[in-house]
Amino acid sequence: MSLNPSKIRGDFPIFQRKINNNPLIYFDNAATTQKPIQVIDSIKNFYEKYNANVHRAVYSLSQEATELYEDSREKIAKFINAEPSEIIFTRGTTEAINLIAYSWGLDNLKQNDEILLTEMEHHSNLIPWEIISKRTEAITKYVKINENSTINLKDFENKLSTKTKIVSISHVSNVTGVINDIKNISKITHENNSLILIDGAQSVPHMKVDVKELDIDFLAFSAHKMLGPTGIGALYCKKKNFETMGPFQGGGEMIKNVNFNSKIQKPEIQWNSPPWKFEAGTPNIAGSIGFMEAVKYLDSIGIEKVSSYEKDLTKYALNRIKECKKTIVYGPLDTSIKCGIISFNVQGLSSHDVALFADTFGIMIRSGYHCAQPLHQVIKLQSSARASFYIYNTIEEIDRFVEVLKEIEQF
Ligand SMILES: Cc1ncc(COP(=O)(O)O)c(C=O)c1O
Repeated sequence: MSLNPSKIRGDFPIFQRKINNNPLIYFDNAATTQKPIQVIDSIKNFYEKYNANVHRAVYSLSQEATELYEDSREKIAKFINAEPSEIIFTRGTTEAINLIAYSWGLDNLKQNDEILLTEMEHHSNLIPWEIISKRTEAITKYVKINENSTINLKDFENKLSTKTKIVSISHVSNVTGVINDIKNISKITHENNSLILIDGAQSVPHMKVDVKELDIDFLAFSAHKMLGPTGIGALYCKKKNFETMGPFQGGGEMIKNVNFNSKIQKPEIQWNSPPWKFEAGTPNIAGSIGFMEAVKYLDSIGIEKVSSYEKDLTKYALNRIKECKKTIVYGPLDTSIKCGIISFNVQGLSSHDVALFADTFGIMIRSGYHCAQPLHQVIKLQSSARASFYIYNTIEEIDRFVEVLKEIEQF
């Protein structure tokens, strides 16, 4: 094993808890991750020592808060090999995708333009585009998936056309854990003169994502899925794309000048420069500091080690689940194209029953359609149960999970 999970677990106070008289086994990391003490303390420390609004005042406390806020932007930019000025703080992946759909979409899409999505998208990368397509009369198209839930590249190339203005696609499926070959998809997309947005909610926390190497236009991700707090995330936007984007929300911070012109009885407005043009109102300052601390924590382990540890866990889990004869796993079993997410069903039981039963043993797994209802329909499922891993999970927890799964099968 490439990292030391027992040392890591010591940093997570939540693992001192028992659930239903059992040690907590937390396998719902694709939904949100637990928080290390370093992240929790950084937020407390901010409110105790640095709390002031940012970018507005000349006094010391505000200057210090601003410095911390901008340090966070720098740290997060570096994590994905971007420039700080290319990072917009958002509430999370969902808001980041909405920002592009509204800011870029409303200004650049017109009737019969096409937005290319896939059947495996999370609702967060589907609903915003459906809303914008209604508003602009652009058309959404969905690339098919193969039988093993990977993307059908042939269908992708067939559906990509001169009308395609943007491709918006998840890096990693939150249901099957499939890793899409973004470098190749991005190359094909750019050869077609289209833009590409990557939903990185399930990739940035788990693998090296380098926006320059992948050559992508936009990347959306959430802090809470990578040890950070809820309510904060980031949108990477390649600098040149800012030129084509109107503001997202209006308010303070995002303007340079609001000059009331008495002749026309209206204010003349000059936008702030990006990224601040896209950050209206008081931002989530404490959240950004927690986000920075989360990135520091992952950096201290090394994201490559995170990746390989999760692959080891996933390989082990997939192998052990084979012992559970009534359990069906969805998506590929090959960990070279799959992250630490395993969706499955136990024959004869609903996914909620499986999750409720696991809960009585202190095991937290997700059930339902994981905000990816179309994908479930495509693979002809009502719902599925899902176990997803992170750096603090262990082989022993997987052993316990498999034991419980065997008991569930007897249910
Ligand atoms: C692939 C994917 N995209 C988008 C989201 C939405 O993320 P958030 O709720 O943090 O905005 C999720 C959350 O589960 C996800 O898994």
